[in-house]
Amino acid sequence: MKRLSTLALTSIVALTAGVSAAQADKLTLYCSAQEDWCQLMARSFEDATGIDVDMTRKSSGETFAQIKAESTNPRGDVWWGGTGDPHLQAAEENLTAAYVSPMRAELHDWAISQATSAGDKTIGIYSGALGYGYNTELLAGNNLPEPSCWMDLTKPEYKGHVQMANPNSSGTAYTTLASMVQIFGEDEGFEFMKGLHANINQYTKSGSAPIKAAGRGETTIGIVFMHDAVAQAVAGFPVKVVAPCEGTGYEIGSMSIIEGARNMDEAKQFYDWALSADAQNLALQVNAFQVPSNVGAETSPSAPDMSTIKLIDYDFKTYGSSDERKRLLQKWDEDVSTLPQ
Ligand code: F6P
Repeated sequence: MKRLSTLALTSIVALTAGVSAAQADKLTLYCSAQEDWCQLMARSFEDATGIDVDMTRKSSGETFAQIKAESTNPRGDVWWGGTGDPHLQAAEENLTAAYVSPMRAELHDWAISQATSAGDKTIGIYSGALGYGYNTELLAGNNLPEPSCWMDLTKPEYKGHVQMANPNSSGTAYTTLASMVQIFGEDEGFEFMKGLHANINQYTKSGSAPIKAAGRGETTIGIVFMHDAVAQAVAGFPVKVVAPCEGTGYEIGSMSIIEGARNMDEAKQFYDWALSADAQNLALQVNAFQVPSNVGAETSPSAPDMSTIKLIDYDFKTYGSSDERKRLLQKWDEDVSTLPQ
């Protein structure tokens, strides 16, 4: 009996040690970039370190809401990808943790300024300009003129032909809303969103869904980041990419460590690795056409050339602030989404 209980105790101790060793070797990753890139990042980090990665892909606004909901009992360790605004909001609301990576010296200034404006609680990992794309065959088949400006999308002939995501769930769509307010001013920007609403056939959850639907011929026009439209064209779909004539906003796709992360050491390892040129070059394998933040990483020749696009001076500090993001989303919910179509 005594021998049995000693044995039992030994195996419990061994089991407990095993469990805590396994726990020490895992990472829970919340990912808001495209699914195949999220998968590749997770598997490549596992291969590089032996750390098991449990990855979930959700849109930027959804991930922000999840991290906030879990804040008293955090389940995620790192939030990688997604538009910078909700990462900035998470920083302001102390949902993410400050960390200064030794890799920071390898990054472009725009990636570091994201960090400095947020007390080092987030950092830029890629950038990309907003625009839209259209299915050239559907456009021609419906005898529609080629749109080239934002304002074109509010014309009555495009009724039922335009798709975008919901700005509450999607960072792409929130960037669209905030860009319109910055390009046209708040009153005119909301008038634009109302005019657009009359032409929208569906608000999707994920930001890139509208251009995938355009590629499949399910909608004519999709408002997305231009790199997501390029990805459809490169995949062989009849999609033309538009940089709107009035100018456009852009994102600084970001990464943050979640405050109270259960696997803090692994989170920091992932963070440093994800800022390296080698890890950022993985984007090329999955046709992710964002501009990487590591100066030594390669930008695909197919990526939209940011220097030829009329970019606005997007005010990340204002539109990534908690009050402003909440206010604009509430105003869109009340004044735009409830209008009849
Ligand atoms: O598909 C990639 C991407 O456009 C990223 O560049 C961006 O950060 C993210 O998706 C935004 O996704 P969502 O609009 O679903 O939050």
